[in-house]
Amino acid sequence: MTIILGIESSCDETAAALVSDGRVILAQHIASQDEQHRPYGGVVPEIAARAHAERIAPMVEATLADAGMSLADVDAIAATAGPGLIGGVMVGLVTAKALAMASGKPLLAVNHLEGHALSPRLADGDLSFPYLLLLVSGGHCQILWVEGVGQYRRLATTIDDALGEAFDKTAKILGLGYPGGPAVERLAATGNAKAVPLPRPLLGSAEPHFSFAGLKSAVLRAKQAGVHDDADIAAAFQQAAIDCLIDRLKQAMDGLGEHLGKADALVVAGGVAANKAIRGALETLAAGRSLRFVAPPLALCTDNAAMIAWAGLERFATGQSDGLDVAARPRWPLDPDASPVRGAGVKA
Ligand code: KG4
Ligand code: ZN
Repeated sequence: MTIILGIESSCDETAAALVSDGRVILAQHIASQDEQHRPYGGVVPEIAARAHAERIAPMVEATLADAGMSLADVDAIAATAGPGLIGGVMVGLVTAKALAMASGKPLLAVNHLEGHALSPRLADGDLSFPYLLLLVSGGHCQILWVEGVGQYRRLATTIDDALGEAFDKTAKILGLGYPGGPAVERLAATGNAKAVPLPRPLLGSAEPHFSFAGLKSAVLRAKQAGVHDDADIAAAFQQAAIDCLIDRLKQAMDGLGEHLGKADALVVAGGVAANKAIRGALETLAAGRSLRFVAPPLALCTDNAAMIAWAGLERFATGQSDGLDVAARPRWPLDPDASPVRGAGVKA
């Protein structure tokens, strides 16, 4: 049996997990920093890095203790090495390096996005390569053709905001606080999406890219107009986002042509994949194209260390590991060959 210790610290969740090649999460701990960041309405990098530094070592100890294990029982140590907030990433990566040095076990520097991209395979042992992946998180919104471990072809990305970012900004505009995604989803469930007209940016455009900045601005204008119910605005925003996701995915599927037939499934991953309305719409889309639909359990969608341990395990199984000099990377695209998108901002 192979057992990997995983560490995640790239944003505002400090997490550690032990995962086996039998797809079992032997133990895991996760601490959100919502309380620390709430007064600021978003993640403050400096506060995040300090909180990770306080929590990570005791959390690794507690995770090992829960599983009744020591480092001697672990085959390798995996940590997120990027992309993310660099202070936090360095805390997790340096902790993993210290543990690897002390134990003599191999180190795996994991791309956080690869953690999200492979997480559905931790939950679903039947999911095989290749698959079509919608990766939607706070920092990214991409459509990827996942060919194998380390083999990702980016078919589309956002030219401005990520979808999770748009959910968080909508929450802020509506005074729902931080983190915003789950709060917007709850309020949207009580509203009428048709009551507020909102745009669907890039709908019908030839390339399958996304744009959410205009939608966010329209939400702000709708709120400022002072005539709409907050629940209706939330519902209209969520429906517009869903319409964009489905249209852009259809475009990507059409672009794949007969290649799409090779896909084992349509898969969704990342924090926004926790949204049940979005999952429902994707399931319908997949069924219409005779594709299986795979979505990880909600707890595996938002940031966690089990997905980092799992991605580490998948790389370890192919004989890979990293040197103790490996660098933390604030940007780290999954598909380095993807050409830059016209109009795109700083998103990887
Ligand atoms: O993957 P994740 O935990 O962290 C990043 O790597 O970014 O994603 C966090 C994002 C946040 O923007 C959060 O608002 C969004 O995922 N999110 C949701 C839901 N749960 C989390 N968005 C919509 N509906 C949800 N239920
Ligand atoms: Zn993430």
